[in-house]
Formats: sequence, structure tokens, C-alpha cells
Amino acid sequence: MPVAVHKLVPETNVLIMGAGPIGLITLLASRAFGAPRVVIVDVDDRRLSIAKNLGADEIIHVSTNIQDVDEEVIKIQNAMGSGIDVSFDCVGYNKTMTTALNATQSGGKVCLIGLALTEMTVPLTPSAAREVDVIGIFRYRNTWPLCIEFLKTGKIDVKPLITHRFRFSQEEVEQAFETSAGGGSAIKVMFSL
Ligand SMILES: *[C@@H]1O[C@H](CO)[C@@H](O)[C@H](O)[C@H]1NC(C)=O
Ligand SMILES: *[C@@H]1O[C@H](CO)[C@@H](O)[C@H](O)[C@H]1NC(C)=O
Repeated sequence: MPVAVHKLVPETNVLIMGAGPIGLITLLASRAFGAPRVVIVDVDDRRLSIAKNLGADEIIHVSTNIQDVDEEVIKIQNAMGSGIDVSFDCVGYNKTMTTALNATQSGGKVCLIGLALTEMTVPLTPSAAREVDVIGIFRYRNTWPLCIEFLKTGKIDVKPLITHRFRFSQEEVEQAFETSAGGGSAIKVMFSL
């Protein structure tokens, strides 16, 4: 099986929708593949500041309001400064996918990683007319060997993603799940066994 037909190379400008655990690791992976410029978008300033610390070139705070898409797309494109080649939607809502589709340059690609909704309403037809391809990935199939290689060689350091550690007692297990479900500044919540 071909592993990656749509290659991300050192000329690929990347937009990432969502600065949660998936978006942040996508940022680190994009860098490991040599992406020269990565812009990351979220509604939460704490997560955006984590993205900035992890090396995002530009962070952009957006709303949850679909009416703001056109204005935010302009902001995102200005922040990138040149065409967006590949966008990763690490959320999977109407608005994040609409933003990704509209922000990506003609001939570019949008990869849907976050699968929040089963059905989405998005302006697919105008994107198709601009030959923006939509691609999917499920459970990161075929990516593990490369991932392990990146970790082993230090091309990706995942330690900064660990924001909380809990011990494995009844009380702390509950706290850990509550912390993780609370989002915000909680990225990877780990147990020490
Ligand atoms: C997205 O782009 C299409 C095509 O240019 C446009 O019709 C639409 O209004 C844009 N914005 C949204 C929110 O769909
Ligand atoms: C997505 O958009 C459709 C059409 O506007 C709407 O019916 C649906 O409720 C939206 N979903 C969410 C989660 O906003």
C-alpha cells in the first residue's frame, strides 16, 4: 500500500485548524517533514500559546461563529503571507472545515483528521471547482513505523505535550479524566504507573 500519496515537503505551507492534542502533534509532524511555515488556529488562547511555544509561526484566535469565516480566512491568508498548500482540520466542525476549504489555495489539499461530526455542511462545490482535494485518514493507519522513527531520532519531541500527570489511584484516575475532558490547558494527561 502506498503510505503517503500527498507528500508534505519542505516547500509546503501548512494551516492547522485546532490546537488541541491532534493539532499540536500535527504541528510537530509538519515541522519534522520540513514545512517552512505553519499557521495554527483555535478558539482557546491557552492552547494557542502552547502552539506558539511549540514553534507555530503564527497563531490566530477565531470565534465559533460561522458568520466570521470570510473575515477569518483573510486573516489566516495574510498571516501565511503566501498560498496555503495543505490544511489539516483537526476538529471536524462545519466551521473549521469551511475555513480550511476556503483558505486553501487552488490545487491544494485539505486533510480531515478530527472527526467531530458525522455530517458536515461545507462549501464543497466551489472548493472542488478550485481543485482543492479533500483527503481523510483514520486512526493514523500506516504511520506508526515513521512515527516511532521520528521519536527515536528526536525529530519530534512529544514531552512538551504532557501537561498533567496523575498516579493510578481511584481518586486520581477520576481527577485525570475530569482534567482531560475539561480541555483548555490540558493537552496530554498521563498516568504514572
Ligand atoms: C467560501 O467560499 C465560497 C466560494 O468562494 C463562497 O461562496 C462562500 O461564501 C465562502 N464562505 C463560506 C462561509 O462558505
Ligand atoms: C452544520 O451546518 C448545518 C447546516 O447549516 C446545520 O444544520 C448543523 O446544525 C450544523 N452543525 C453544527 C454542529 O453546527
